[in-house]
Amino acid sequence: DPTSQPYRTGYHFQPAKNWMNDPNGPMIYKGIYHLFYQYNPYGAVWGNIVWAHSTSTDLVNWTPHEIALTPSDPVDGHGCWSGSATLLPRGKPAILYTGLVDSKETQVQNLAMPKNCSDPYLKEWFKYENNPILSAPIPINATLFRDPSTAWLGPDQRWRMAVGSLIDNREGLILLYTSKDFEHWIKTNNPLHSEKHTGMWECPDFFPVSTGDQNGVDTSILGPNVKHVLKISLFDYHRDCYTIGTYDVNKDKFIPEEGKVGGVPGLRYDYGKFYASKSFFDSAKNRRILWAWVNESSSWGDDIKKGWSGLQTIPRSLWLDKSGKQLVQWPIVEIESLRENQVDLPSKFLEGRSLLETSGVTAAQADIEISFEIKEFDKAEVLDPSWTNPQLLCSHKGASVESGLGPFGLLVLASKDLQEYTAVFFRIYKGQNKYVVLMCSDQSSSSLNNKNDKTSYGAFLNVDPVHEKLLLRSLIDHSIVESFGGGGKACITARVYPILAIENDAHLYAFNYGNEKVNITSLRTWSMKKAQINIANPIKSVA
Ligand code: FRU
Repeated sequence: DPTSQPYRTGYHFQPAKNWMNDPNGPMIYKGIYHLFYQYNPYGAVWGNIVWAHSTSTDLVNWTPHEIALTPSDPVDGHGCWSGSATLLPRGKPAILYTGLVDSKETQVQNLAMPKNCSDPYLKEWFKYENNPILSAPIPINATLFRDPSTAWLGPDQRWRMAVGSLIDNREGLILLYTSKDFEHWIKTNNPLHSEKHTGMWECPDFFPVSTGDQNGVDTSILGPNVKHVLKISLFDYHRDCYTIGTYDVNKDKFIPEEGKVGGVPGLRYDYGKFYASKSFFDSAKNRRILWAWVNESSSWGDDIKKGWSGLQTIPRSLWLDKSGKQLVQWPIVEIESLRENQVDLPSKFLEGRSLLETSGVTAAQADIEISFEIKEFDKAEVLDPSWTNPQLLCSHKGASVESGLGPFGLLVLASKDLQEYTAVFFRIYKGQNKYVVLMCSDQSSSSLNNKNDKTSYGAFLNVDPVHEKLLLRSLIDHSIVESFGGGGKACITARVYPILAIENDAHLYAFNYGNEKVNITSLRTWSMKKAQINIANPIKSVA
């Protein structure tokens, strides 16, 4: 009955019930996509963590399988925490993951392998008999030693693997280990990277991106045609940060080009709810795909009542921007197979302080792409040089605060009378010697239920509005809104729980609450079909 579960999604990955957090070990094996995830089989709050497992042929529809890794003494009796998959030579998969060996959260790293490599669904896994393969090295605190990355192979034929940690001075760091046989691992003398005053680094991801095109590259690729990306999940801030740089494989050092990886503010995959992300190289389509956990913004009590907690983002392709200074992300093309009832609006001016409803789609489960063109910049407000924090700026200047140029964008999951809405929008400021585009996702009016976290999110968008159109795409799915600004240069994911704007009572509008008119050059909306996600059905056996 959908009315009793208005926040379950139609096309986002989630288990049938209970708690889910980090995506683990994503990979493609024999043409089948695998996703494992941190899961509590017994309830809608974090605890009793196992590796649940689903597979897919299209990254859209998912079949659930038996739990892949479940706690067993002595190597992980208190939890099977996050980790990654690596495809060894001849394509044999291996999983590295963190085991919790006691109730004090002592962490070790373990190895697991498929029982039967000829099964493309990799349904059964066994744990390596000599686990753990690693315990915390001195002077690392054993409760701060976790989340092994996908391993990469160096020119010296040694594997490398990164593990997240923390030492004195709240210095986050990535420990690096090397191995010849994937079973015996040795710590390198220096960490791959570290930074003071950043707190614990969880879930490191380290991979190359092509400098020439949008194709992904395999994790072990080195050379002049790639740069490297280091992503860490900052425990203290619950955000995923990355930097772009070079990897010196001889010294086993990552050298960021600019900025700090743990910088707040710094480069983020997503400026909203998005954590513990992990990428993999999709060899079938030559792309790198990113997954991330999106937690709830509702209260524990509400999570327990609805019986589940946590979503995964729509998988995103990711590549290096032409500038070489940031990444770009875009929902995988396969998700477009769920689009139906396309509605196109002809190009038109949106006057200041006006609203335009887009009807004809199921607004609670939709995909929308809108493009704005600005011709008149005279009224743009001057950007105060002290306004350096986009999230703060968005929380001061929400959708209801009018200015010269903006806010303009979308009101999604809106009730008819606009008592409830989530606003995703732009504002344009006059900066020192260029116009600055601010992108916001304002949840402050998203629900009449005030128990939810309605924090606003924001990002500066690296687009020149004088010469480029301002693109915005939002994937709307009942309780999640994933927004992509500037073709994926800034992404913001939000969780919202409307009370009125649910199912057929949800509406979708383009709006302009600024003084100056803006031109909508295109506006395209689709209803999204429901995907088959984790609904148990027998798997057709592969001959
Ligand atoms: C990140 C994280 C990881 C850990 C896992 C436990 O969300 O805290 O560091 O391995 O979740 O579920």
